[in-house]
Amino acid sequence: MNAHYFNPVHSVYGAGALSSLPELLDGRRAAVVTFPEARALGLVARLEAVLGDRLACVIDCISPNPDVQELSQTYEDFWRTCAEVEVIVAVGGGSAIDTAKALMVADESGRFDALVSGLAGEKPFTPTRFKRLIAVPTTAGTGSEVTPWATIWDRARQKKHSLHLPQTWPEYAVIDPELMLSLPASVTLQSGLDALSHALESIWNVNANPLSDTMACSAVHEILAVLPALMQQPQDLGLRGRMALAALQAGMAFSNTKTALAHSISYEMTLRYGLPHGIACSFSLPMVLRSAIGQRADRDAVLERALGAPLAEAPERLERFIEGLGVKTRFGDYGVSAQEARAMVLHAQGGARGKNFIGRPTPTETLT
Ligand SMILES: [Fe+2]
Repeated sequence: MNAHYFNPVHSVYGAGALSSLPELLDGRRAAVVTFPEARALGLVARLEAVLGDRLACVIDCISPNPDVQELSQTYEDFWRTCAEVEVIVAVGGGSAIDTAKALMVADESGRFDALVSGLAGEKPFTPTRFKRLIAVPTTAGTGSEVTPWATIWDRARQKKHSLHLPQTWPEYAVIDPELMLSLPASVTLQSGLDALSHALESIWNVNANPLSDTMACSAVHEILAVLPALMQQPQDLGLRGRMALAALQAGMAFSNTKTALAHSISYEMTLRYGLPHGIACSFSLPMVLRSAIGQRADRDAVLERALGAPLAEAPERLERFIEGLGVKTRFGDYGVSAQEARAMVLHAQGGARGKNFIGRPTPTETLT
């Protein structure tokens, strides 16, 4: 069977890439969607200077892991008051970009519950109005800048929704490592491990193809080489640039495969234990790798290309790498009992992302 690869996002990469925004807007008016600290960091002032009279409004009330309760008012205000905005410029980590994707689409009512009912599968949601998106990540990890998906949480109902519409592909991804220089160590680590998870999850994935594999292997090599060094030298623009490129490659890999079991497990760990996404989706990587090895010869070959030979020792090496960055790799380290972990893994295997995993149906013994 022939391999198909599709990604319509135009990527602009390099130090100083932020200054290309006016050219990319090409006369269109923009709303900036960003995180609350962006103003104090001077980022909003910089965007105001770069965008000039193209900037219509700034929405900076975005909280981590966007929740339907918090988004409702922002969404309805945006659709009521920003009619002239054609483009949303999302500047921040995954939460800012995912929030922007939710803001991009509306039906004639402009009501948020119409979108939420669609996300919950209760009623079809067909957008009749939409904005374009320029995604400017300030972290190296999410990959959201080159995918059409957004994770929207409903904590009151202990649910996670995945927004995915043809209209929610970003138009441009602007990857400027200069924006990442001020990232705190915790976010640098979490986003770096998220990128590692995206790359590996695209390999042990039923949707993998030679093009996604190529980008995933390159991303894994770079992340293993760069992330520990970057944690020591966070002000090194060269290392920030390499990590940003690796995260972009990982994003492009999983933009075509989606994620798999480690991410499926992560949603429960975030909802029930409050783990940040980058930790929740990476602590289980050595366990999932153990379960993946031996399932399919072609996947073993790519995993060996990514992680080195002998493949049988790769889980232990990966465990040392992650633990060496200060992240524990067993469920028990996070207060999850063996019984609960087994139930969580079984549940995760049955989830949409879990079904992308190549592993045998019940790898619970290996995993816990
Ligand atoms: Fe992720």
